[in-house]
Amino acid sequence: MQVFKTKIELGVFIASCKTRSKTIGFVPTMGALHQGHLSLIAFAKKESDVTLASIFVNPTQFNDPNDLKNYPRNEAKDLEMLLEAGCDAVFMPNEAEMYPEKDTRIFDFDGLDQQMEGAHRPGHFNGVAQIVSKLFDAVQPHKAFFGQKDFQQVAIIRKMTQSLNLPIDIIACPIVREDDGLAMSSRNQLLSSEHRKAVPLIYKTLQKARTLAYEKSVGQLQEWVEETINDSGLLRVEYFEIVDEQTLLPISSFTAGKNNVGCIAVWAGKVRLIDNVTINL
Ligand code: PAF
Repeated sequence: MQVFKTKIELGVFIASCKTRSKTIGFVPTMGALHQGHLSLIAFAKKESDVTLASIFVNPTQFNDPNDLKNYPRNEAKDLEMLLEAGCDAVFMPNEAEMYPEKDTRIFDFDGLDQQMEGAHRPGHFNGVAQIVSKLFDAVQPHKAFFGQKDFQQVAIIRKMTQSLNLPIDIIACPIVREDDGLAMSSRNQLLSSEHRKAVPLIYKTLQKARTLAYEKSVGQLQEWVEETINDSGLLRVEYFEIVDEQTLLPISSFTAGKNNVGCIAVWAGKVRLIDNVTINL
């Protein structure tokens, strides 16, 4: 597995792949890898000739400096896991390499960033678009693979790719869960043992909400989900929104045949987790 630290070294590798007409599958990450990331690598390997991952903790997408400071980092273990998973190459730039000067670009996501993560983490998606557009520029992938756990992020990246006219297929891959239902996330390793025991309630509640959609209104379902999770005493729901899968706008009632997604953000102590499920009639 080749490891590149600079865009110049990476560029030579990418050019040689293109000369040999190899398709490139790209998995951008912020490291602290888990099985969810490895499933993205597996999808990329299946669908491309060359699989390339990046590891870069992008400062511009953190609206909370403490979150950036505490974000888990373990490069040596990440590299071992990528090697084991059969990844062909890794791009691991430092901050100066990705931001030689301040990125002042402001992206327009046509309203997709107005709710949920966008509303609760100001500037977050603009930072994501800044780094992903820079990485796309450096890697020039044919396909890029993202986890569906970050449902809104996938929509934002699709929008950005479209607006910039980039010939890249954005592939959303299914959420990977622990045996107890917790969606895999790099932040899970920051949970205290008490909170770790409490957090399976999030997915359990979302699953139950899917069946309750047949008997409750959207408003009643939101209230029920928030109460059920908050009643644990250890978890605090920041939002639970049921949105249209395409527009990401909150729905006010269920319509048969329409695809909706129930998206949640929950504080477990100082750790903020997100998850989502489809909720359809
Ligand atoms: O989902 C992530 O890990 C990050 O938001 C991404 C896409 C790697 C950009 O920094």
